[in-house]
Amino acid sequence: MEVHRDIDSFRQARRDLDGTVAFVPTLGSIHEGHLALMREGRRCADHLIVSIFVNPTQFEPGSDYEAYPRALENDCEKCESLGCSIVFAPTEDEMYADDHTTTVTIDGLTDVLCGPQRPGHFDGVTTVVTKLLNIVEPETAVFGDKDYQQLAIIRRMVRDLNMPVDIVGVPTVRETDGLAVSSRNDYLDDAQRRDAAALSRALARAWHRFNEGLRDAEQLVEAARHHLLTYDSIDDASIDYVQCVHPETLQLYGGKHREIGEAGAVMAMAVHIGEARLIDNLRLDAPLPDELSDG
Ligand code: PAF
Repeated sequence: MEVHRDIDSFRQARRDLDGTVAFVPTLGSIHEGHLALMREGRRCADHLIVSIFVNPTQFEPGSDYEAYPRALENDCEKCESLGCSIVFAPTEDEMYADDHTTTVTIDGLTDVLCGPQRPGHFDGVTTVVTKLLNIVEPETAVFGDKDYQQLAIIRRMVRDLNMPVDIVGVPTVRETDGLAVSSRNDYLDDAQRRDAAALSRALARAWHRFNEGLRDAEQLVEAARHHLLTYDSIDDASIDYVQCVHPETLQLYGGKHREIGEAGAVMAMAVHIGEARLIDNLRLDAPLPDELSDG
């Protein structure tokens, strides 16, 4: 496996690969969730390329950019163990010229869920993903369902800009108690870690209500919020949002449009527990993941 830190030498190595390429972009701090993306990448192409880059433009002011865990050597070992051909781990200077002024913005899909709470975040993501796709030129790029909104935005971007890449989504990897695997789980102490299972349990609660026949999105959101509020370290103030949205357009169900129709719905939430802002989501009209089946 080769590791490249600058674009020119990466491009040379990329040109030398024979066959198709699947690409997994990451912020590093590789965990089981990333490994599932990499396995999917290995399955659908001849070569796997992984990028490791803590992208500053997607961290809004006051967020955890400085504290975000960085472990390049360890990450590269994990990539190698999964049969990755090249790791692209650029420096910030390599990715962003001092006077860079170009941003990729996707309208509409960014107005709900994490969009209002994280101004500029999705512009940072779509801009860096565009740059990475231009540099890596993969046939396939693999993203996690865990960042459901990010995945929907990237799919839209690729469609709207006719980018020649297939976007593949991979189901969220969960701990045995249902908690979605995330680098930010490392910020939790033991008690907070126990409380963090509340997110997936609240989603499972809403899933059960939906599958018993409840179609009123506001009542489903209320059921999930009620469940969250029974946990020690979670109060109203720590819930950023709990929302039900259309699976593709991400249009919010609520008010006059509270009735969930044929298209189904995704329930998504963001909750602060201690230093961590955790997100999770669940498709209500799909089978319940095994780890949530006692929720
Ligand atoms: O999901 C992530 O880890 C990041 O948002 C991504 C796609 C690597 C862009 O920096």
